[in-house]
Amino acid sequence: MLSTTPPSLFCALILCLPLAIVFTITMPPFTITTITNCKEDKVAIFLTKNLPKLEIKTPISPQPPHYPPSLPPPPQDDDSLLHLASQVNPRPKSPKKLAFLFLMTAPLPFAPLWELYFNQSRTTLFNIYIHADPTYKYDLSFTGVFTNKVIHSKPAKRSTPTLISATRRLLSHALLHDPSNFIFALLSPSCIPLHSFNFTYKILTNSGKSFIEILDIEGGAYDRWVARGEELMLPEVGFKDFRIGSQFWILTRKHARMVVRDMRIWPKFNQTCLREDTCYPEDHYFPTLIHMQDLHGSVSTTLTSIDWSVRVGSHPREYKAYEVGPDLIMSLRNKRPRYGYEGINGSDLSVMKRNDPFLFARKFSPDSIQLLISIEKDIILND
Ligand SMILES: *[C@@H]1O[C@H](CO)[C@@H](O)[C@H](O)[C@H]1NC(C)=O
Ligand SMILES: *[C@@H]1O[C@H](CO)[C@@H](O)[C@H](O)[C@H]1NC(C)=O
Ligand SMILES: *[C@@H]1O[C@H](CO)[C@@H](O)[C@H](O)[C@H]1NC(C)=O
Ligand SMILES: *[C@@H]1O[C@H](CO)[C@@H](O)[C@H](O)[C@H]1NC(C)=O
Repeated sequence: MLSTTPPSLFCALILCLPLAIVFTITMPPFTITTITNCKEDKVAIFLTKNLPKLEIKTPISPQPPHYPPSLPPPPQDDDSLLHLASQVNPRPKSPKKLAFLFLMTAPLPFAPLWELYFNQSRTTLFNIYIHADPTYKYDLSFTGVFTNKVIHSKPAKRSTPTLISATRRLLSHALLHDPSNFIFALLSPSCIPLHSFNFTYKILTNSGKSFIEILDIEGGAYDRWVARGEELMLPEVGFKDFRIGSQFWILTRKHARMVVRDMRIWPKFNQTCLREDTCYPEDHYFPTLIHMQDLHGSVSTTLTSIDWSVRVGSHPREYKAYEVGPDLIMSLRNKRPRYGYEGINGSDLSVMKRNDPFLFARKFSPDSIQLLISIEKDIILND
């Protein structure tokens, strides 16, 4: 069951530029095991032609989200930002809105796909926030629905707590920006939607629960817990409290606020790892926090589909352009999410009755954009 996984090289973040070279960087082999995480031992940098609407422009000029004139601009230092965000009302205002949080180090290869996804909703029941690591050389001139959505961003590197910081920054901005933000979904640039916005909206607002994978007996758990040094997580985070799960979750407003308020276990996770090969703080912090503070407000699963059954080396499957078509989308939609341990060894039995639809999927290679667009209206957005 358990399979080899790889170091955290910003799983799924694919850098695309309009040139025509392909190369990969390989890390030393390694021995952690888990069946859930999206860690890869290679970062593929696709430099490809034919990507619609992506133009290179320098210099980088981040476009901050437009805040209502009644609000002061959010502070740029993290402590003040988190402090301010932790004071928002945990109860969302009507109408309920979805906040889409894009965590990236590259332009969105699938921006045109998302553009139509959001346009089709013909509603204002969503907000978009982008965290874009400013140290990468890429174009930040997001267009269309992505205009003015980049929050004040800082370097966010794999195998460090900075990916968690970036995510907490996204949550803070979303909490402060709109009191109607009800559900917060974290996405990577290699994610695509599997249903229409309306479908996703209905599922998430009706459920009112967080969907976050929370696992404990995964292989390598102990090595991950001691990655910062023996006993350095103590006493706040004992090994028995330590949890693991996919980085791509969906959180309720209550849980989003819980994350930005957290000052108890964050200092433990905001420590430098001694070993990179067991250092995936972004896969540990969120499941551990939610587990410790409000286990029952969440469903232990991720609604972002990933295929670990087919792999190249120790990569999860990346769908290539030639694989993309109606059949693939249909088969991804028909799969049932994995819910924690489903009753095994005394874990939650009630989830066995659940069958929530996957709402997003990854990873898709950037060059599949044309094919995805060609089936978007008839298949992807047709529920
Ligand atoms: C989405 O809507 C915006 C504003 O109405 C428009 O400028 C843009 O072309 C639309 N995009 C698509 C893909 O329909
Ligand atoms: C989605 O829902 C909105 C509001 O209910 C509606 O105006 C819009 O037409 C719907 N879009 C589609 C594609 O059904
Ligand atoms: C996290 O740790 C770094 C390095 O020790 C420190 O500079 C930073 O202020 C900490 N961040 C937070 C939000 O506590
Ligand atoms: C259940 O617990 C037993 C005893 O602790 C352990 O050996 C076994 O591997 C566990 N099963 C699963 C599926 O984790």
